[in-house]
Amino acid sequence: TLLAAASMACAEFPEKPVTLVVPFAAGGPSDKIARDLAEALRKPLGQTVIVDNAAGAGGTIGSAKVARAAPDGYTLLVHHIGMATAPALYRKLGYKVPDDFETLGLINEAPSVLIGKPSLEARNFGELRQWIASNGGKVNLAHAGLGSASHLCGLMFQSALKTNMTPVPYKGTAPAMTDLIGGQVDLMCEQATNAVPQIEGKKVKVYGVTSLKRLPLPSLKDTATLSESGLKDFDVQVWHGLYAPKGTPPAVLAKLNSALRVALKDPELIKREEALGLTVVNDERLEPAGHRKFIEAEKTRWSKVIKDAGEYAD
Ligand code: MLT
Repeated sequence: TLLAAASMACAEFPEKPVTLVVPFAAGGPSDKIARDLAEALRKPLGQTVIVDNAAGAGGTIGSAKVARAAPDGYTLLVHHIGMATAPALYRKLGYKVPDDFETLGLINEAPSVLIGKPSLEARNFGELRQWIASNGGKVNLAHAGLGSASHLCGLMFQSALKTNMTPVPYKGTAPAMTDLIGGQVDLMCEQATNAVPQIEGKKVKVYGVTSLKRLPLPSLKDTATLSESGLKDFDVQVWHGLYAPKGTPPAVLAKLNSALRVALKDPELIKREEALGLTVVNDERLEPAGHRKFIEAEKTRWSKVIKDAGEYAD
């Protein structure tokens, strides 16, 4: 019968490669995290895990693609706070959050850093703040589309400074980083995942850490947090989670969640991620129910932040 066939399929899952959809361009922090995860999922799933970059519109194009995919466990989404912010920023969003997804578990938390093009004269946040005050609207602030982590951090930054800058959207922060290093844009609020190698390589200037705590990394341990530098309580952490389309069979979800748990215990993955300032999640948010509760709370929180910063939401 159909039921028997369905339960057979679950028992055999996965019997073909699993795809992780990344809703941003290759080379960015989301892509890096997804590729690390794909590598660590291969063993527990006993299958090839491939990454598909479906970029655009601040991550909503890739998210819609997964919301519409067959609910069979073979098409998953690696996303982040953009899941919680899109509902407040897009009137015609092609999916409901979290209703159109199954929350599989949270992966990690990433702090961001405020970085500038190499030719900026400002040597510290104080000097940068003065430069922004006298250049205001002309300052080009790069981000990865409405609702992306870089956009939201930039939004909170403009709101904290009460300054409207000129937003420059990209399909991901990898292409944005190329322009920042080249001097085509002035500033970006980028996840440490991608910023740390550029800071170590002295390709960009760093002006602050966006989490409340400093980062114990060699290249950032002396960098003050924005909160210490006068933007009191400025706190942006970018979490990443794993999602399946709604209606994916519970037996398949359970297999995927247990494979995620194994992957997040992989010492290689932990070492690589911690060296980039990431914290691998290992708490109740790794439970599908805990993750869903967290998404709902984040959706409420970010809609308020976006409303308060409304005039800067470009
Ligand atoms: C963002 O939200 O800024 C994206 O994660 C950047 C990216 O991954 O390209």
